[in-house]
Amino acid sequence: MSSTEEISFFDPEVNRCPYPAYKQLQDEAPVWQDPQTGMYVVTRYDDIREVLMDRETFTNRVGSAAGMTEKAVRPSNPEEAARMDAEAEWERKIKQVYVEEGWETVGTLDALDPPEHGQLRSMFQVAFRPSRIAELDPYVEQLTNKLMDAFIEKGRCEWVAEYAVPVPLYTIGKQMGVPEADMPQIKKWTDAWVQRLGLMQTPEERLWSAKKEVEAQQYFQPIFERLRQHPEDTLLSDVVNKEIPEWGRKLNDNELHSEMMADFFVGGSETTANSIAAGMVALIERPELWERLCEDPEKYIPIFSEEVIRIEGPVQGLLRETSKDVEMHGVKIPAGSIVNVRFAAGNRDERHFPHADQIDLDRQHSKAHLGFGLGEHFCLGAPLARREMYWAFKTLVNRVESMRFVEGANDFEFNASYFLRGIKELHIELTPR
Ligand code: HEM
Repeated sequence: MSSTEEISFFDPEVNRCPYPAYKQLQDEAPVWQDPQTGMYVVTRYDDIREVLMDRETFTNRVGSAAGMTEKAVRPSNPEEAARMDAEAEWERKIKQVYVEEGWETVGTLDALDPPEHGQLRSMFQVAFRPSRIAELDPYVEQLTNKLMDAFIEKGRCEWVAEYAVPVPLYTIGKQMGVPEADMPQIKKWTDAWVQRLGLMQTPEERLWSAKKEVEAQQYFQPIFERLRQHPEDTLLSDVVNKEIPEWGRKLNDNELHSEMMADFFVGGSETTANSIAAGMVALIERPELWERLCEDPEKYIPIFSEEVIRIEGPVQGLLRETSKDVEMHGVKIPAGSIVNVRFAAGNRDERHFPHADQIDLDRQHSKAHLGFGLGEHFCLGAPLARREMYWAFKTLVNRVESMRFVEGANDFEFNASYFLRGIKELHIELTPR
């Protein structure tokens, strides 16, 4: 086996399947300074838990918004650092795009620490209240059926674009009050945003992504203004109009635009879409899972959904910033360092999960994984994601007898990203019931 120094999350092989690299890091360097980014990567379950629960030492100020993350990631390698300095000009150009044509982005909920985090999160919790999520159920059920109507007779589809992506995208779009006809355009904007977050773009591509984000801002601004004049019973209307009592004000345009992309359209759709896609791969590869889902969907779909998020987490890792010097496993992490918390590695840590690489429908406490994070920043959208995954697979069970990969049509390539994981395409054949 090669040394841990040779591991690179930018390597296309590792991007395709990061799990052997995670295992090696867990065994040989559980706190590993990535030579390319300078970040300290934490991969064991117990260590991730420790980092996530100690908010005083491991702060969220670095956030996960694309632009902020780029600035925070400072390569330790001097050559790389020099190259980054040469790119400072690009940074300036990118900033100009927001300043001159749109709204500069700011840290979102995920980038806040106490007390502001709890104050904003309380307001969001009203918007994400359980009764509102429950009200969406009939819409999601109908949507999954409508999407399936479009390909079931043909017996073939590209599962990612025709089903996995639109289920959460249209659902969040409905909650945002965006017309269905505009959703394909929104998807293009979220794709551009996600590419930037992936940290694998050239400067030209980053500029392109910034321009796309500004296009999205120009689209959303009149929606905010309309909702201020005429509030509606939607999540977005609440977010636009509710005051945060401790702040004595509502969110401003910059905050709203940043939230729209990071927390609602990307946080709310890319993630769940990737889980619905990963679930299909698992069901085809392991037909015994499919049999059990069909036998007792009410019992097994929820456990299956949790297990898919555990073993193929759409959010592989996110960031924290140290507020003081700290030492873990003998590695000194200076104050101001960026720590990459690798949720997806912790979720496959054999020290914590027996037969961690396998989906197990009998697993006890199946919700106790790190795929939605842990502690105060635990995913706000988890209840919604769980309902979307439930309906995505329930409609599949109701209407489909069996599925298989279309022979020779799949290359099982994943989108290039340092943080997220999602398969690009999945061509499948289905036999209807
Ligand atoms: C399978 C689907 C999903 C996965 C795997 C996922 C994963 C995560 C993770 C790992 C975090 C923790 C971030 C951290 O600790 O820094 C998080 C936070 C968050 N997620 Fe999700 N998410 C999913 C779906 C959603 C949905 C559907 C929405 C919204 C509609 C959403 C909105 C958020 C928000 C707003 C936060 C920030 C919470 C905070 O910082 O207090 N997510 N998510």
